[in-house]
Amino acid sequence: MSVYLVGAGPGDADLLTLRAAAVLARADVVVHDRLVGEDVLALVPTGARRLDVGKLPGGGGDSQHAINDLLIELALEHETVVRLKGGDPFVFGRGGEEAAALEAAGVEVHVVPGISSAFAAPLLAGIPVTHRGASRGVCVITAVAESGVEVDFEPLAAPEITLVVLMGVARRASIAAQLRRGGLAADTAVAVVERAASRDQRVTRARLDALAALDVASPAVIVVGPVAALELGLSLAVGTLVGAA
Ligand SMILES: C[S@@+](CC[C@H](N)C(=O)[O-])C[C@H]1O[C@@H](n2cnc3c(N)ncnc32)[C@H](O)[C@@H]1O
Repeated sequence: MSVYLVGAGPGDADLLTLRAAAVLARADVVVHDRLVGEDVLALVPTGARRLDVGKLPGGGGDSQHAINDLLIELALEHETVVRLKGGDPFVFGRGGEEAAALEAAGVEVHVVPGISSAFAAPLLAGIPVTHRGASRGVCVITAVAESGVEVDFEPLAAPEITLVVLMGVARRASIAAQLRRGGLAADTAVAVVERAASRDQRVTRARLDALAALDVASPAVIVVGPVAALELGLSLAVGTLVGAA
C-alpha cells in the first residue's frame, strides 16, 4: 500500500540512517539498484522479495518506465514496498521521477534521505568540500546529461568553488579539457574517490592536467579544486574504521 523511497547511503551498511534500517526491517519487497551493496542487502528480512532492477534490460526512459510500473504494481500487492537506492534517492537517483509517477497513480509515497556519495566520498578521502580560505561553495554535477547531451563544464570553472562530479569517469578527459579552457590552472588539485565507503575504497590524487590519464574506474566521484589536495581527519572517518575492522 505504501512505497518507501529509501537512501541506502554510499556503501557500508552502518552508513544507513536508523530510519532507513527500520523501514527495511519491515519490508515485504525490496526493489534495489545495482550500486546497493551486499552489506545493506543482507538487512532485507528473510522472506521478503528482493528485486534487482539494475539488471533490467534497456536503459534510459524505457527502463525507468518499467521500474515505475513495477513499483505501482507491487504497491497494489504488498503493504510495504521499499525502493532502495544508493546514496540519497533524490540525488541523481531518479527518485523524484519515481515519486511523481507513484503519486500520479494514487500510491502513498514516503522518502527517507540517505548519505549521498557526493558528500561522503570526498569526506571519506579526507576532503572537506568547503573549507575557509580554499573553497566557499560546492557544485555537485553529473557528467551524463539527459538525452545524451554532454554537460558543458567550461562555465563551471571557478577556482574558489569545489566541483564534485558524479558519473564522470568515462568523460574525465573532456571534463579536464573544458575546465582548462574555462580558466582553471593546469595544477588545480583533483581527487578521484572510487568505491567510497567500501573495503576497497581507493583515492587517487593528481593535477587537473593529469586527470585524463588516471587509471580509475566507476563508481567514482571526481573532486576538483584546492581542497582535493587535503587529507584531513581520516582517523575519524567511519569508512576507515570499518575498513580496518
Ligand atoms: C546514478 S548516480 C547515484 C548517486 C546516488 N544517488 C548518491 O546520492 O550517491 C551513480 C554515481 O554516484 C557515484 N557513486 C555512487 N556510489 C559511490 C561510491 N560508493 N563511491 C564513489 N562514487 C559513488 C558515482 O559517480 C556513480 O557513477
